[in-house]
Amino acid sequence: MDNLNPSRSPFFKGGGFMDHAADLASQVDPHLTAPNPRVGCVVVCDGEILASGVHEKFGEPHAEVNSISSLNPGSRVKEPGFWDQCEIYITLEPCDHFQGKKTPSCTELLLKHKPKKVIVGSLDPQFGGKNLEKLKKAGIEVVLEKNEKCEELNPFFAHFVKTKMPYVTVKMAQSLDGRVTKKIPGSGIPEPGIDYISNEISRQKVHEMRAQYSALLTTVKTILADDPQLNCRLDNPPSLAKREMEGDFSKEDLNPPAPLYSGAVPLFQRGRNTSDPQIIVLGKKSDIPPSARIFLSSPLGRGSEGEGNRKIHFFDTHDLKSVLAECAKMGIDSIMTECGPTVATELLKSDLVDEVQLFVAPEIFGKGKDAFLNNAILQDFHLHEVENLQGDVWMRFVRK
Ligand SMILES: NC(=O)c1ccc[n+]([C@@H]2O[C@H](COP(=O)([O-])OP(=O)(O)OC[C@H]3O[C@@H](n4cnc5c(N)ncnc54)[C@H](OP(=O)(O)O)[C@@H]3O)[C@@H](O)[C@H]2O)c1
Repeated sequence: MDNLNPSRSPFFKGGGFMDHAADLASQVDPHLTAPNPRVGCVVVCDGEILASGVHEKFGEPHAEVNSISSLNPGSRVKEPGFWDQCEIYITLEPCDHFQGKKTPSCTELLLKHKPKKVIVGSLDPQFGGKNLEKLKKAGIEVVLEKNEKCEELNPFFAHFVKTKMPYVTVKMAQSLDGRVTKKIPGSGIPEPGIDYISNEISRQKVHEMRAQYSALLTTVKTILADDPQLNCRLDNPPSLAKREMEGDFSKEDLNPPAPLYSGAVPLFQRGRNTSDPQIIVLGKKSDIPPSARIFLSSPLGRGSEGEGNRKIHFFDTHDLKSVLAECAKMGIDSIMTECGPTVATELLKSDLVDEVQLFVAPEIFGKGKDAFLNNAILQDFHLHEVENLQGDVWMRFVRK
C-alpha cells in the first residue's frame, strides 16, 4: 500500500486523497472491525502518498498507526522538518483514551509527530470533534472535510455508540399479496426458482446485506422449515470491494476487479475470503438436528465458539429486548432478521426495529402467512428508497 503516487499509480483514479482513504477502508470486512468503525488513513507529502493504512480488526492497530508505521524508514521520514510538510488524511476523527479502550490514542500519536495538517472526513460520535480541538490547540492545522464516502463506511456505528443497542433491520421477502412462504414446510432444502420467493438479483442484494450486518437473527421454527445456510454467498461483498475500482493490490487475496451482474458497480473478487455474519437463534439448540446447514463451517468464520467456525448464539426466550441487549454486550452492532412474520411483527410491535427492507415478488400466492401479523403497520417508518430489481420491487423503510 505504500509509495503510491497518485500521479503515477494506475490504481489511483483521482477524487482526492480523502476518497482514496475511504476506498481503502471500504475493502475492510466490517464483520472483523465491529463494533469498531472501518477507517482509512493516508500520509501525504508534497502531493505524494507516502504511506496508507486501514483498521483491519477489532482490538488491532488503528489506521493512523498502520499508515505512520508503514512509512518507509529509508524515505524522507528521516529528513529534518519532514512532519512539518506532512498532511494526514483520515476518514474519521482520531480516537483518544476512554475507559476500557484496548488500543493507544491516535490523537496522541498525531500530537507526538505534529504533522503540518490533519484532514478528517467525518466526526466520531464518541468524541464529537473534541479531538480535533486538541490537535488545533497544539498548532496543527485541522480541516473537517465532510465526505460522503467516509460517512457511508460505517452505517451502524453512530447508532450503536448513541443507543448501545444493535441497529435492527427487518428483512422480508413477500408476494404481491403479502405472503411469505412459497415452499411447503418440511419439504426439504429450498430450491432456487422453485421455492424462493424473490429473484436472483434480490437474493444477491440479501447476500450483500449479510456482508454488512454483524449478525442474522433467526428462529428454530424458520430453521426447521427452511434449513437456511445463513452465510454470505457472495464472491464479492461490497464491503470488501473497492466500488470505484482503484485500490490496494498489495494483499494476495485481492484479484482484479470484475463486474458481478449487469447494473452493478464493479466489485473486487474476494473468492473464499468472504466472512459470514454471526447467527442469533431464538429457541433451543437441542431442537435443531446437528445436520442443519447453519452448522456448516464457513471459510472465514469469526471464531470457534459456534459449530464449525461460526459464532452461533442461542436464546431460549421471548424477551426480544433482552436478546438485543445481550447481543450489544457481545459487540454486535447490527442485526438483520432472517425469521418469519411472528418474530418480525413482535420486533416491530416492541419498537425494536430501525428499518424494514421488503422484497416484493410480482406473484400472487393467494394463501399462506402474511408478512406482518396482527395489523402491524409501518406508520413509524417512511419509505426511503425503492428499486426495481428486474421484476422484484425492493423497498427500504427507515424509522421516522
Ligand atoms: N419470506 C421471508 O422473508 C421469510 C424469512 C424467514 C422465514 N420465512 C418463513 O416463515 C415461516 C415461519 O414464520 P413464523 O412466523 O411461523 O415463525 P418465526 O417468526 O420464524 O418464529 C416464530 C417462533 O419464534 C419463537 N419466538 C421467540 N421470541 C418470540 C416472541 N417474542 N414472540 C413470538 N414468538 C417468539 C416462538 O417459538 P417458541 O414458542 O417455540 O419459543 C415462535 O413460534 C417459515 O415457513 C419460513 O419459511 C419467510
